[in-house]
Amino acid sequence: MKNIDSYSHVRGESLFVDDLITRQDTLYGLVFDAPVAHGIIKHIDYSEAENIEGVIKIFTYKDILGENQIGGIIPDEPLWAENEIHFWGQPIAFIVATSEAIAKKARKLIRIEIEKLPAITTAKEAKAKNSFINAPRSFHLGDTDNAFAHCDFIIEGETFSNGQEHLYLETQGCYAVPMENGNIKITSSTQGPTSVQKITARVLGVPMHKIEVDVIRLGGGFGGKEDQATPWAVMAAVAVQHLKKPVKFVLNRHDDLRMTGKRHPYESTFKIGLTKDLKITAFEAEFLQNSGAAADLSPAIAERTLFHATNSYYIPNVKTTVLSCKTNLPPNTAFRGFGGPQGMFVIESAIAKAAHIIGVEKERIQEANLLDENDTFSYGQIATQVEAKNTWRTAALNFKLEKIENEVRDFNAQNTQFKKGVSVMPITFGISFTNTPMNNARALVHIYQDGSVGVSTGAVEMGQSVNTKMLQVAYKTLGIHPSKVKLETTNTTRVANTSPTAASSTADLNGKAVLKACETLISRLSEVAANMLNAKASEVNFKNDAVFINNKKSPITWEDVIAQAMLDRVALTENAHYATPVIHFDKTKEKGHPFAYHVYGTAITTTTVNCLTGTYEIDSVKIIHDFGKSMNLGIDTGQVEGALIQGIGWMTMEEISYNKEGKLLSNALSTYKVPDIFSVPKTVEIAPLETKGNDMAILKSKAVGEPPLMYGIGAYFAIQNAVKAFNPNYEPKFHAPFTPEKVLMGLYE
Ligand code: MTE
Ligand code: HPA
Ligand code: MOS
Repeated sequence: MKNIDSYSHVRGESLFVDDLITRQDTLYGLVFDAPVAHGIIKHIDYSEAENIEGVIKIFTYKDILGENQIGGIIPDEPLWAENEIHFWGQPIAFIVATSEAIAKKARKLIRIEIEKLPAITTAKEAKAKNSFINAPRSFHLGDTDNAFAHCDFIIEGETFSNGQEHLYLETQGCYAVPMENGNIKITSSTQGPTSVQKITARVLGVPMHKIEVDVIRLGGGFGGKEDQATPWAVMAAVAVQHLKKPVKFVLNRHDDLRMTGKRHPYESTFKIGLTKDLKITAFEAEFLQNSGAAADLSPAIAERTLFHATNSYYIPNVKTTVLSCKTNLPPNTAFRGFGGPQGMFVIESAIAKAAHIIGVEKERIQEANLLDENDTFSYGQIATQVEAKNTWRTAALNFKLEKIENEVRDFNAQNTQFKKGVSVMPITFGISFTNTPMNNARALVHIYQDGSVGVSTGAVEMGQSVNTKMLQVAYKTLGIHPSKVKLETTNTTRVANTSPTAASSTADLNGKAVLKACETLISRLSEVAANMLNAKASEVNFKNDAVFINNKKSPITWEDVIAQAMLDRVALTENAHYATPVIHFDKTKEKGHPFAYHVYGTAITTTTVNCLTGTYEIDSVKIIHDFGKSMNLGIDTGQVEGALIQGIGWMTMEEISYNKEGKLLSNALSTYKVPDIFSVPKTVEIAPLETKGNDMAILKSKAVGEPPLMYGIGAYFAIQNAVKAFNPNYEPKFHAPFTPEKVLMGLYE
């Protein structure tokens, strides 16, 4: 089934925040933000700006009737700065005017005096100055000290992976409208409608029921709108509360790039120990996460780094520690993979360095240590239904890994200017919010009296096609034609207290709730139909818009049963709640069973490096991916393609750059390069692994949103192998992204 939005997307008819028809008296918002990364505000003069015709009011923290606090996990982030500035781009005031142009003019006239303080921009600096968000976290398995004492090889090293800009096509934005009695309705481009509702209520000092949040769809989120869609909506709502007029606030690209956080840069160190037969018996790592100026989601992201620190490998002795380092950058935030990719880059780097020093191919070490059934993860969960070896072997066999390796070797023997490299990248990714209580969702299903159906859930559509999947669950369970089902907007008055659309778990959590609601409706309607046909409810089946008795088609249609249900006064609405069973995690012991299941896969990447210029092309990426029993292979394959390219971008070309003063230099698409049609791999092949699927996944169709991003890590090591083939003196470095400049330096060091 096609994505149900595809027609309206192609025709430009799909609605986003900026497409909403605004009320005639709508006002427009714009943020005045900090022009330094760290300092004390001495004086601000708004008078000139306020005097411009069309400027209605400039809001500051003094106008807040509730709390000036938007922190989710830790209350450490003001909506608007009070006395101290903690990052370049931190919101200080909110200009509301009759047009955006007037607000922009006013912004230029605000005079601010700041006493500058030294800025911390890197995690290492923060660690040296004891600047942290919270206490460190550590996972332990076995005894690394003892294991290192028995190793034949011990290799240490350090890595860096840079941040990444989400670059959702639709920038952050919202439209807030006053309703009666001080109620406010906010249409927001957010992954977390409940967060927007909750934080707005907190800042405005009103109960949550006064705030309604509606989400139509997002032009991409990628994690960047899990927490960071909130401040803009809250600002607009504060203005609505005071002015009783609608306020629209859509960030332009420059403001969005400057003011929002990104994927966390990590600086890490590792120590890996192996025996002669290439078994990894010990692994230690310290991850320094550059969290930025406030916690945002950093503690949860740090936790997921630990969960994925050993990727697809079984290592019996593990000690990993993560420190969330407080710096003067915009608070970094969720980004596809949520700390997992940063962890996995480190273990892959450790294996690459070990392979280089021992003098074997990286793949030999990887393959010798792949996770097996009943192995224990460092966090205590026992691995079951493991497909690590299966995806590796299937990829090696189906894509003829040996032949690829031989071809690369031959090519390199015959060519001097161009060198090829190949790498294999296995992935293992845990599915569930790592914070167990968040793993719940609800669905509200209405059958209208004409037999058409409306489905509301807590899921936010952001291009990942979750609405299409919800529709599939509903029509299949109800036995009706897909055209009879409509997916409603995501709205806090219909489905409340939701977890954000995140952790790749949205289709699982909300889909299971839809399934439950539809099953309950069907069992009720089976009674109605059984009465109509003098049969037993247990003999009734709904299929193809008709009623079947013992699998024989009766003359009664879906619509007939709904009409009768109305006469019989049977409820045609159902609300269902789903909470993932089995999972648990004890943070005091750092042990438990946090994930419903894992997603597995293996990618083979080949690249060609131009050894004169340092530029490279990704020739091909061939993937065996564990979709479970995919309920929509077209959509799921699209998710793998998109995530792969996003991962390659992070590892090879996307270079976030702040200067020493904490100013974002890569603040436009002219200075920040994302993969385009010319830089994507020439060949991308994605084949599903044949598996039984997993009952914890919706219709056995495994979560797919984030895991394939980490296939992109393979590109780093393929390029590195090409550099090694050219320059025998090259000492492998693990400093992502591997830009052509770094490649060139590696080729000639
Ligand atoms: N795909 C598109 N097209 N746009 C997005 O914003 N976000 C990704 C992934 N795929 C995203 C996407 C992220 S970060 C997550 S967590 C999942 O989708 C969330 O949706 P799901 O839980 O329905 O997979
Ligand atoms: N993944 C993504 N988003 C989250 C998570 C997680 O595990 N926990 C809280 N927000
Ligand atoms: Mo995705 S980073 O969990 O929004």
